[in-house]
Amino acid sequence: MNDGPLILGIETSCDETGVGIVRGSDLLADAVASSVDEHARFGGVVPEVASRAHLEAMVPTIDRACREAGVSLNDFDAVAVTAGPGLAGALLVGVAAAKALALALSVPLHGVNHLAAHVAVDTLEHGPLPEPCIALLVSGGHSSLLRVGDVTFDIESLGATLDDAAGEAFDKVARVLGLPFPGGPHIDREAASGNPAAIDFPRGLSSARDLERHRYDVSFSGLKTSVARWVEAREAAGEPVPIADVAASFQEAVVDVLVRKSVAACLDSGIEHLVIGGGVAANSRLRALITERAAAAGIRVRVPRPGLCTDNGAMVAALGSLMVQRGRAPSNLGFGTDTSMPVTQVSTPS
Ligand code: KG4
Ligand code: ZN
Repeated sequence: MNDGPLILGIETSCDETGVGIVRGSDLLADAVASSVDEHARFGGVVPEVASRAHLEAMVPTIDRACREAGVSLNDFDAVAVTAGPGLAGALLVGVAAAKALALALSVPLHGVNHLAAHVAVDTLEHGPLPEPCIALLVSGGHSSLLRVGDVTFDIESLGATLDDAAGEAFDKVARVLGLPFPGGPHIDREAASGNPAAIDFPRGLSSARDLERHRYDVSFSGLKTSVARWVEAREAAGEPVPIADVAASFQEAVVDVLVRKSVAACLDSGIEHLVIGGGVAANSRLRALITERAAAAGIRVRVPRPGLCTDNGAMVAALGSLMVQRGRAPSNLGFGTDTSMPVTQVSTPS
């Protein structure tokens, strides 16, 4: 047990109400209340439903986290909260709760970037981040390759998706295959019994010409359309759709591109450490292929356990703890939510 600052982290950028408690780099509690079941019948997250669910879940989830950690509100040294990017109404609930707590408890508040928190969470499992490192961040809303110096203020964007995020592509293809929302875990499961080489789906932005302009960018919209056309053609011909093979072949196309681009970013920059985060980092094939190809290229990979890859409060507390330990100035309480907070901005102004 280390004896660093005790930090409360609050996350409400999408459909998970996450409350995490961290002391130094020790994870004491990670309470998550998800409204995902309420969105399933719509095939995607409904912002207004998510906001209302956050409101209802906020206080009980904070209580649950405190009980789990064996601490009371008065024990906290600081509060951290996701200020962006994310859904406006959803972010607002977490930020309002965090401001109220910080004021009532007279402790500093750090408004932080959700994407930086996805990177920082790995410190809870694997210790301090190597500086610099390359980070691959793949979630339902974002796909980015980053060069991370000090995660509390120094993040550079190397590339991003030109259209759909990786998780979004998983969710949309799952829908085409008639699998439930969110589709990522279902495709992962189906793919386990399928043949990844059954169908040769396109690898976006991978031709020599595309690589000149988009070396670290990705694009999944063409792949998604290609899967939809393939399935439609099968159905039109009255033939059964081999769901496991389609899932495995689609997943292989996504993962192949992500791994190739991540390895290239490491080799080009001479940085031998790669950190992976975000919901899609929970994908079993991505974890296996990156481990295999990175080892062959002399790159060391760090991936948090799946439960810390998807949205949670522990990641916000982890980044908050680093902000406090590194003496970063807390946020001015006047800050608002920022639905499109750039990944290069780790925290809201002091
Ligand atoms: O990071 P996250 O929980 O929320 C965002 O910040 O977006 O990521 C959610 C995304 C969803 O699109 C979900 O389908 C995807 O992560 N996901 C997966 C897996 N688990 C979650 N995608 C592929 N394979 C998985 N095992
Ligand atoms: Zn996320």
